[in-house]
Amino acid sequence: MNFSKTLRGLMLAAGLLSAAFAGSSMAQTFPTKPVTLVVPFAAGGPTDILARTLAASMTKELGQTVVIENRAGAGGTIASAFVAKAPADGYTLLIHHNGMATAPTLYRKLPFNALTDFTYVGLVADVPMTLLGRKDLPPNNMAEFIAYAKAQGNKINLANAGLGAVSQLCGTLLQQALGVGFTAIPYSGTGPAMIALVGGQLDVLCDQTTQTLAQIKAKTVKLYGVTSAERLSYLPDTPTLREGGLKDFEIVVWHGVYGPKNIPAPVAARLNQALKAALKDPAVIAKAGDLGAVIVPEAKQTPEALQAWVKDEIAKWAPLLKAAGQYAD
Ligand code: MLT
Repeated sequence: MNFSKTLRGLMLAAGLLSAAFAGSSMAQTFPTKPVTLVVPFAAGGPTDILARTLAASMTKELGQTVVIENRAGAGGTIASAFVAKAPADGYTLLIHHNGMATAPTLYRKLPFNALTDFTYVGLVADVPMTLLGRKDLPPNNMAEFIAYAKAQGNKINLANAGLGAVSQLCGTLLQQALGVGFTAIPYSGTGPAMIALVGGQLDVLCDQTTQTLAQIKAKTVKLYGVTSAERLSYLPDTPTLREGGLKDFEIVVWHGVYGPKNIPAPVAARLNQALKAALKDPAVIAKAGDLGAVIVPEAKQTPEALQAWVKDEIAKWAPLLKAAGQYAD
């Protein structure tokens, strides 16, 4: 018998056992302090609203406060890079949307890999977008909006929450479909952009129903169309952009929760369990309904489903973004 080989084998087994034990005892006690959920856009916007709804319920489930931290900038990539490099202990998480899958095409130098640098917690909800104008913008419907956009071109200003933001994505596809170039106005998120739209300083905003439904109901903005392929049951008289003549136009915003890669498996499982519990919470279901958000089916609330989804979405958006000539160094 080779004694040193056997000894090495025993030491390896002991190491694995002690790591497994540490992982399972960590999961039994996790969390022992507040968990931070990083939002990659400004406070008050759609991602923030969804994150706060989720955090309130996950707080109940985890027995520790889930604190929201807004880290806006570069279309969500600053927050993604921050979380990718955070300690892999389960205490720093990220909620992000389609930007996780568009950034790999949009940015030539991205300081993280969307497919390998995260622990995937699960998919959360799908949200359609709405095309809005300020209340006194001349066009009153989609057909008039298209004619006005073509006539006014860059005299129209359009909100842009950064390369990687869905408002930016929607604006890009819109301008491409119309063959016009608006003037982009940068914001740290569509929360501040909505304040500008309602205040009349901004002409056009494409944004998620999460924050737009309240303004649409209050009639503080003009609604032209929805970005989903079909009309929405709660806005039955509003045409889709496709119906308005923008061929094949479709954006549905999806949201997922991530942590840095290598979170111990039992801790990651506890986080997924808390996410799933939140998505079954009647308060979250009711709030999602009010926001026009559709909670994903339970089979999609898994790490595997989120990772597969990000992969598919990277492949789906890459050719469209390349065709639109969008990228940053
Ligand atoms: C936000 O939360 O501010 C928006 O999701 C930003 C965007 O992607 O347009």
